[in-house]
Amino acid sequence: MVAYKSKVVEQINLPSRERREQALEDAGYNVFNLAAEAVFIDLLTDSGTGAMSDAQWAALVRGDESYAGSRSFDDLEAAVEEVMGVSNVVPTHQGRGAENVLYGAVVSDGDVVLNNTHFDTTRAHVANQGAEPVDCPVASAHDPTADEPFKGNFSLEAARAVVDDVGAERVPLVVQTITNNSAAGQPVSVENTRDLAAFADEIDATFVIDACRFAENAAFVARREAEFADAEVADIALEQLGYADALVMSGKKDGLVNAGGFVATDDEALFERCKQRAILYEGFPTYGGMAGRDVAAMAVGLREAVEEAYLTDRLEQVRRLATMLEDAGVPIYTPAGGHAVYLDAGTTFSHLPPEAFPGQAMVCALYREGGVRGVELGSFAFPDTDRPELVRLAIPRRTYHTEHLEHVVETAAAVLEESESIPGLEIVSDSAVPELRHFTAELEPLSS
Ligand code: F0G
Repeated sequence: MVAYKSKVVEQINLPSRERREQALEDAGYNVFNLAAEAVFIDLLTDSGTGAMSDAQWAALVRGDESYAGSRSFDDLEAAVEEVMGVSNVVPTHQGRGAENVLYGAVVSDGDVVLNNTHFDTTRAHVANQGAEPVDCPVASAHDPTADEPFKGNFSLEAARAVVDDVGAERVPLVVQTITNNSAAGQPVSVENTRDLAAFADEIDATFVIDACRFAENAAFVARREAEFADAEVADIALEQLGYADALVMSGKKDGLVNAGGFVATDDEALFERCKQRAILYEGFPTYGGMAGRDVAAMAVGLREAVEEAYLTDRLEQVRRLATMLEDAGVPIYTPAGGHAVYLDAGTTFSHLPPEAFPGQAMVCALYREGGVRGVELGSFAFPDTDRPELVRLAIPRRTYHTEHLEHVVETAAAVLEESESIPGLEIVSDSAVPELRHFTAELEPLSS
């Protein structure tokens, strides 16, 4: 059921096929280099790309821009306490700012950090502290067809094996990312969070939840975890987040804003350390690199994010896209995640080996065919891993309508139809930072 009507609109255009071909070539077959104006339906990310509500725009006007003691910060503190159950908040400019503040305070050289799956920026911040990021996904996480409710879960078994190997004293931090973005946006059960909190306690590690998509995760729990069948989503979120020692948050996702993030913790000593780092890297701890108006809008957004009507609309829209794609015969990762549908490019482009980047070939074909922008999350983004060749179509919150999704499905179906004639790609200009190559590297189609 649609829970909104439009109050402000933005015009979008589908450039001619000729212009799309040219734009792709000029972009070095890397869609991060495309001008957004040349994109018709932009599913590159769900981060900071959603539409704010009228209540958020109203809050924006009332934002308090005071350097210290801003009223908008009080609003944010109250919202975080109410929605996430944590009383101390350190605002930051976005999620990775929060990661820098928090991980810099708890991780040091030689440490090992465990995560169900590190998101790119999380991995980079852990590595930046001289520590080793280790992923502990469950076995089904990278299986595009396994029919399980919580493929985003943290494997306690994998975590125990690492701790047995390196020793508990080297593992000061355990992170659970909900939903698990790098595992196709799959949810994490509350039971898994509870067990992981106990494990972190056992090895005397700080337990952090990366709460970027905490509300979507809670909505999945309400629908899939028997213990919570009758629970309110807002209560589920409070319980799940309540197991963590600290939260790291990108407001650009379930904060329903275009900028902002924060660290939240009830641990007073950790709070003090984070505040000091925030002053260094982000700003005074009552604004932390955000404009007061953005802080005010995030306070409203957090409350809206746990409203059942919003979440039903959100999850249904993603599921609708997944179902329409399946009906059109397009192979996808199932079940669909919370913020995106992940196309199984490895199956669609089975004639291309990983070194010819089947996912990136599909990303380019989607743009060429219908002006649709997705992102590759396979051999191009993650060299030397055995992850499946996926293309993420992330859905910005409260932004697109069913007609837009229909266009995406028609585009994907047309790509599927001609997939065998689409060539692979090779890198012609690499990035200086190999882990971040998919943002800037340039490619060319392989001649067949
Ligand atoms: N953690 C997770 C799980 C994320 O998905 C992201 C961002 C971050 C941290 C960093 O937050 O962008 O505000 O600095 N994910 C975006 C994406 C960029 O497209 O998935 P940020």
